[in-house]
Amino acid sequence: MAAPTFSSSVPVARRVSGFTYAIRNIVAEARKVEAAGRQVRYLNIGDPIPFGFATPAHLVEAVVRAMRDNANGYTPSPGIPAAREAVARDFTDRGVPTSPDRVVLTSGTSEGIELTLGALVNEGDEVLVPTPTYPLYTAVLAKIGARAVFYRTDPSHGWLPDLDHLRSLIGPATRAIVAIDPNNPTGAVYPNATRLALLELSERHGVPLLADEVYGDLAYDGPVPPIASLNPDALVISYSSLSKAYLAPGWRAGWLAVGRNERLDEVLAAIRKLADGRLCSPGPMQHAITAAITGDRSHQVAFRAALRERAALTTSRFNAIAGMRCVAPAAAFYAMPQVTLPPGRTDEDYVLGLLRATGVLCVYGSGFGTRPADGFFRVVFLAAPDELAAIYDDIAAFTRDFLAR
Ligand SMILES: Cc1ncc(COP(=O)(O)O)c(C=O)c1O
Repeated sequence: MAAPTFSSSVPVARRVSGFTYAIRNIVAEARKVEAAGRQVRYLNIGDPIPFGFATPAHLVEAVVRAMRDNANGYTPSPGIPAAREAVARDFTDRGVPTSPDRVVLTSGTSEGIELTLGALVNEGDEVLVPTPTYPLYTAVLAKIGARAVFYRTDPSHGWLPDLDHLRSLIGPATRAIVAIDPNNPTGAVYPNATRLALLELSERHGVPLLADEVYGDLAYDGPVPPIASLNPDALVISYSSLSKAYLAPGWRAGWLAVGRNERLDEVLAAIRKLADGRLCSPGPMQHAITAAITGDRSHQVAFRAALRERAALTTSRFNAIAGMRCVAPAAAFYAMPQVTLPPGRTDEDYVLGLLRATGVLCVYGSGFGTRPADGFFRVVFLAAPDELAAIYDDIAAFTRDFLAR
């Protein structure tokens, strides 16, 4: 009997339509530009490896050794004890007394975020997320059917959170506050006064603070202490990974640490329950977490210096372009310049125009939650300074034309 034929395609779940991730979505546009014969310079993804930064050799050794020793099986779902102990000791050394049983190893910061939101948030609940934001938060919340409620961070105050705005958004449906400090996409590092205010809000409303600290070791003035070091009893869950400060993003090796306050015990149990379902994060890479945290970190000194130089170049070049402003980043490898758009134009018009005219790929600010008419876009400044200088010449020339039209 002939199989029945259907004319329409197999339907997909509705929730997928709310799941957008501009940093990667925009690559489809870049591919079209490449297909038309123009070389594309990718300033869209925060990955140091394609720009010549190398994973420290002792981390590679740790993974290779683990594989050779046949540590290739599933690990316990929260991760191998040695790495969890190393993470717990590191938090303790940085002022947050932590026991290994409150640490879970994850497939990058990303999985830590996803496990936690899965453990904390019901359909219809709200989570306070900064704008601009790292887009995974919005995407995961869309998948759950929960609502990202955006609190402003303010470029005229160094991209610090607008605390009054944040306060005004907390309500009965609020389940968590997300803080990204140091920040992607803005490069901001929050002063203690801001951090204390965030902790105080979390405490007053009994709502956990989800502290994305993946750039904590990449502030140009040196590592930033975890926010929970200001109050180890606060309702903080902290996230980080080997992706950025240890130059191994493809390994998907990360961790989360749940604060010692017993009011977080059930959340920890729920995270661990969900973690059981995905068996474990990549096993050999867990051995690199131990090596990274207990071993030599001198690569970070060189990396921070390289980033500081590129940040200064980026800020000075963007601020020299008529119609453009850029707040100086204090950490990581991102800047969020703003172009004063002509009426009716959007950040996406500007970024796609730039891509088509010059081959330079940035991400429009609305991909991070800013308003399209506000003209923000994110630049990843990991390329070598001379290459960046040439790229910024092209951006300056394009912007002149774009604004003159
Ligand atoms: C703020 C922020 N959080 C999380 C992530 C995801 O990192 P990971 O590779 O550890 O999953 C990134 C990656 O760019 C990021 O910028």
